[in-house]
Amino acid sequence: MARKPAPRPSASVTPQSDVVAADDPRVLATVFRGKRVLIGVTGGIAAYKACHIVSRLAQAGAQVTVAMTEAATKFVTPLTFQALSGRPVYTSAWEHVESHDPQHVSLAREAAVALVAPATMDCLAKLATGRTDDVVTLILSAIDRSKTPVFLAPSMNDAMWHQPSTQRNVTQLVDDGFHLIGPGEGWQACRTVGAGRMTEPVQILEVVTDTLRLRRESRERTVKSRR
Ligand SMILES: Cc1cc2nc3c(=O)[nH]c(=O)nc-3n(C[C@H](O)[C@H](O)[C@H](O)COP(=O)(O)O)c2cc1C
Repeated sequence: MARKPAPRPSASVTPQSDVVAADDPRVLATVFRGKRVLIGVTGGIAAYKACHIVSRLAQAGAQVTVAMTEAATKFVTPLTFQALSGRPVYTSAWEHVESHDPQHVSLAREAAVALVAPATMDCLAKLATGRTDDVVTLILSAIDRSKTPVFLAPSMNDAMWHQPSTQRNVTQLVDDGFHLIGPGEGWQACRTVGAGRMTEPVQILEVVTDTLRLRRESRERTVKSRR
C-alpha cells in the first residue's frame, strides 16, 4: 500500500530559494571545493551553530581547519569539530598539530578565507587592539587581509553589543578591513529579545559565498583586461 505523505505542520516556513542554495553543498562546492577554510570558534553560546557551517563546508569539499579558544571548548568539544571537518582541531598555540614550523603562520598563509563564528565581545576587543593571546586571534594576526578575506560573525547579548567599547571596536574592525556579518536581532540565550544574536549559519554561508564569488569574478575580469 502506498504511504500517505506526512502532513506539513501548519506553521512551516518555506525558506527563500537563495538561502536554500547557500545551504546546498553542491552550490557551495562551486566556490569552496579544494579551498582551505579557517573557522575560528570563540566562547559564545552560539558556538553550536558553527557545527552546521563546518559540516556544510566539509560536504562541499573544502579543507576546513577549526581553531577554538579555551572558552569555546566549554560550549562544544573539539572532537565534534574534528568529526565534522575530518581534520585536527587547534585549541592551543603551544601544541604543534600538523607541522613543526610556527603553525599559526602556515595556517594563515594557506587559508583562502577565514571566518570567526561566533565572535565574542572579547574576541572583537582583542582583534581591534591587536592582541593575540589565544590560538584564534594568533592565527588571524598572521593573515594578510588584502589577499585573504576575514569574516567575523559577532554574537552576544543586547547589552554587550551596545557597550560603547564594542561599538568602538566594531568601527575599528571595519576600518581595518575585517568583514562583519550581522549580528541580527531576536531571541537570546539570556531569555530576552534584542540585538547581538549571531546571524544564522545559512545566511553566514551565503554572505561568504557571495563575497568570494564576486572577488573571483573581479580577478577574472582583471586577467581578461590584461590580455
Ligand atoms: C554561559 C555563558 C555564555 C556566554 N555567551 C557569550 C556570548 O554569547 N557572547 C559573548 O561575547 N560572550 C559570552 N560569554 C562570555 C565569554 O565566554 C567570555 O567573555 C570569554 O572570556 C570569551 O573568551 P574568548 O573570546 O577567548 O572565547 C558567555 C559566558 C558564559 C559563561
